[in-house]
Amino acid sequence: MSESFRQYLRALPDFPEELPDFDPSTAPADPAELFRQWFGQAVQAGVPQPNAFSLATVDGLGRPSSRMLILKDLDDDGWQFASSRASRKGRELAANPHAALNFYWQQHGRQVRVAGTVVELSAEASAADWHARPGADGSENPHWQLYALRPRELEFWQARHDRRHIRHHYGPAGLG
Ligand SMILES: Cc1cc2nc3c(=O)[nH]c(=O)nc-3n(C[C@H](O)[C@H](O)[C@H](O)COP(=O)(O)O)c2cc1C
Repeated sequence: MSESFRQYLRALPDFPEELPDFDPSTAPADPAELFRQWFGQAVQAGVPQPNAFSLATVDGLGRPSSRMLILKDLDDDGWQFASSRASRKGRELAANPHAALNFYWQQHGRQVRVAGTVVELSAEASAADWHARPGADGSENPHWQLYALRPRELEFWQARHDRRHIRHHYGPAGLG
């Protein structure tokens, strides 16, 4: 079973034949701008749910957990997402605000990693997000929280068929 599953996995296709070019020397100084460029290109390429990303948090013993979320906004506050403060991620972020996001846009062979510190945005902004959700029925959710991840570092990764994958890093020095 295991051997055939291994073969099955190995036979799966990976990246599409056509991959975009990425020249880091032409990348904008602001990583949010590059993110918006890549995001727009992912939308144009028909990537399903390009706004979905994984969020990794850790518990009090440093044990990580991750789950998928939806990006709500990107502005001066950072990469925004919303969830219940009473959830596992909500409790973990309250105790330890360090977190990491990961976006994957398969059609372009692109990954964007964003790591940093999560802050809670205002009760008003959180309530507005709650009420703007599809299917909202006007009821309140006092646990609903809008968060923003302020990046400490980012990596933009571009797959290449020659396997010389491109990694473009923004570190603390470049983030201002
Ligand atoms: C594509 C996708 C998007 C999701 N978006 C959200 C979201 O925006 N907010 C949220 O609280 N949960 C979202 N979920 C559910 C979470 O992945 C997770 O199951 C839930 O928030 C509980 O996580 P926790 O117990 O680790 O806190 C989404 C799941 C998927 C698969």
